[in-house]
Amino acid sequence: MSVPEHIAIIMDGNGRWAKKRGLPRNAGHTAGAKNVEDICVAAKKLGVKYLTLYALSTENWSRPEAEVRALMRLLSGYLDKAIKTAHENRMHIRVIGDITRLEPKFQRQIIEAERVSSVYDELNLTIAINYGSRDELVRAVRRVGADIKAGTLAPEAVSEELFAGYLDTRELPDPDLLIRTSGEQRLSNYLLWQLAYSEFYFAQVPWPDFDEAQLVRAIDAYENRDRRYGGIREE
Ligand code: IPE
Ligand code: IPE
Ligand code: MG
Repeated sequence: MSVPEHIAIIMDGNGRWAKKRGLPRNAGHTAGAKNVEDICVAAKKLGVKYLTLYALSTENWSRPEAEVRALMRLLSGYLDKAIKTAHENRMHIRVIGDITRLEPKFQRQIIEAERVSSVYDELNLTIAINYGSRDELVRAVRRVGADIKAGTLAPEAVSEELFAGYLDTRELPDPDLLIRTSGEQRLSNYLLWQLAYSEFYFAQVPWPDFDEAQLVRAIDAYENRDRRYGGIREE
């Protein structure tokens, strides 16, 4: 098989990375944010077209307020830089998740990053912020319901394809490969609909240590898989 067109990553283990070094958790998040830039460059170099990163889940609000605030600051700092480098990186930035719960200034920054980078498509970087798959599905169902109520959509017209068009990921193909770092083997409410036929790869290293060599290893493992989509192997 060839290089996966779309890789989704659950960037886990920042806290454990920091703890092992006797540092505060936020130092792990800083190292993790820095790693996003490196992995974007590596992914583009390896021929990946879509990279979708889980940065903050709808459940992460239950963390201490200071940690959530630090995560927002890091994400906002990352976007600031990304807006400036969008041209040289030729990277289209998108954000999925319910951004209406974020600070208005942060929301404006997200919209601006999406706008200035929308002319590029060498790498499509999507960042999931205040994202939860169940929340995304519920928001999609509400919009479908509103269209039916308004008379612009007939219930019989709702197909898998049409419904996918109501999801936050409507502009993205489904991921070919899901990577989760730091040894955990669960989805934590990430892309439940979109990962229906994706291959899964679990890396033992925490996110700040997940480097280009690790990414190559994940892609190698993917290339040796036998994807079937419910059919049988074609010899
Ligand atoms: C991932 O690292 C970053 C976020 C979830 C925001 P964690 O903060 O979950 O790190 P661990 O899992 O506690 O090590
Ligand atoms: C998933 O990681 C969310 C992100 C990576 C943003 P968590 O660390 O929050 O997931 P759980 O709580 O271990 O399942
Ligand atoms: Mg974690």
